Amino acid sequence: MPKTSIASIVVALLCGTSAAWSQPGQDFPPGPGKDKVVAVCNGCHDINRVKAGYNAAGWNMLQHMMQNFGTPIAPEDWPIVTTYLMTNFPERQRPPAVVISGPVQASIKLWDVPTIGSRPHDPLATKDGAIWWTGQLSNKLGRIDPKTGAIREYFLKSPHSGPHGLTEDRDGNIWFTANAMGAIGKLDPKTGLVTEYKLPDPKAKDPHTLIFDRDGILWFTVQQANIVGRLDPKTGDIKLVTSPTPRSRPYGMALNSKNVVFFVEFGTNKVASIDAKTMAIKEWTLPNPGARPRRIAISPDDMIWYTDFARGFLGRLDPATGEVKEWQSPSGPKSEPYGIVFTKGALWYNEAFAKPNTIVRFDPKTEQFQTWAIPGGGDIVRNMDVTPDGNPVTANSLTNQVGLVEIK
Ligand code: HEC
Repeated sequence: MPKTSIASIVVALLCGTSAAWSQPGQDFPPGPGKDKVVAVCNGCHDINRVKAGYNAAGWNMLQHMMQNFGTPIAPEDWPIVTTYLMTNFPERQRPPAVVISGPVQASIKLWDVPTIGSRPHDPLATKDGAIWWTGQLSNKLGRIDPKTGAIREYFLKSPHSGPHGLTEDRDGNIWFTANAMGAIGKLDPKTGLVTEYKLPDPKAKDPHTLIFDRDGILWFTVQQANIVGRLDPKTGDIKLVTSPTPRSRPYGMALNSKNVVFFVEFGTNKVASIDAKTMAIKEWTLPNPGARPRRIAISPDDMIWYTDFARGFLGRLDPATGEVKEWQSPSGPKSEPYGIVFTKGALWYNEAFAKPNTIVRFDPKTEQFQTWAIPGGGDIVRNMDVTPDGNPVTANSLTNQVGLVEIK
């Protein structure tokens, strides 16, 4: 390295001109606990995530989540760290839930997940009537029988594997994305044994959502790696392709009536499909450049429905014509529509930043909304599924619950 450039670096250091040299989080307000937060909370993710802000219950739950994931803070130091976070990063202003009455009767049942700070990420309603969830930060899969309330948690194989997406095969095995270790996992509920399938590309670190097509092939998104993959459970063979749009963040996935896999690209304003044989990806661009479709549901007429998390809209794409129609979600632009399913003739989804969170029903025939407040707040339904008798199920990540919406 020539002397001049060393000299200029020294000058930059002395003058403190380069932000790159300062430790992230140093701009946080002073106070007891700040040193620990700055030293530790940047270890696995951007420290500025704390700016999301939570109320006291939320920060207490966050403490359990970070402890479960092995955050290196001594037990006696946690109270001061959590107090610092509660004091300096309180809950931000949230849009009040807009509750709209309507023609449909429904009630919401919730169960607490046994391990506190599990961060239940995805729910799954299995053929046998059970509700499963991924404990993303507890490293467990859970199962509840909603009739009896009997619960079992299954420990996974590798530590901190970050179970995230969840689905079931024909034989009743439970498949999940191990989001923190670049693998797909399979749990046999009869034995509790887990098989792990490591993704063949080290870039493919964070497998996200997964679904089976009707030929028994498992499809999955790999969000940050910008990849979509397929796994053949018969051979364990995995193939990966990169999305045509850079940083498009492939996210929610769903299957249409013709066995075609669709997914949404949360990093851009696009919806896509993937060809089962060639793995060629076809994209549709949504008209608003600010749209960020996060989850997807497909109605029996093969319309693509998506939650636009960034703008607070429910959207519908007709993939045959490319035509898009959008409806503002009842609790407004900041309501953060998230997990969504189609069942009993309507769309059902969650507003993840409305206070309290809502379950929203949208009737595609009348284009009318009806909404319910989730008891106790219900915060952040990241995904939904449907029971064999047509009721939506939820995993509520910040309140550490799973839920069942019983439609009368
Ligand atoms: C050992 C790794 C690790 C460390 C260290 C860590 N976190 Fe996390 N954190 C995670 C993981 C994993 C998630 C969840 C996955 C994701 O969204 O990235 C998460 C998520 C979060 C979230 C979002 C929660 C949500 O449900 O949306 C916040 C806020 C957060 N962490 C705060 C902190 C704070 C504060 C600290 C320091 C006290 C910290 N983290 C240290 C791993 C870590």
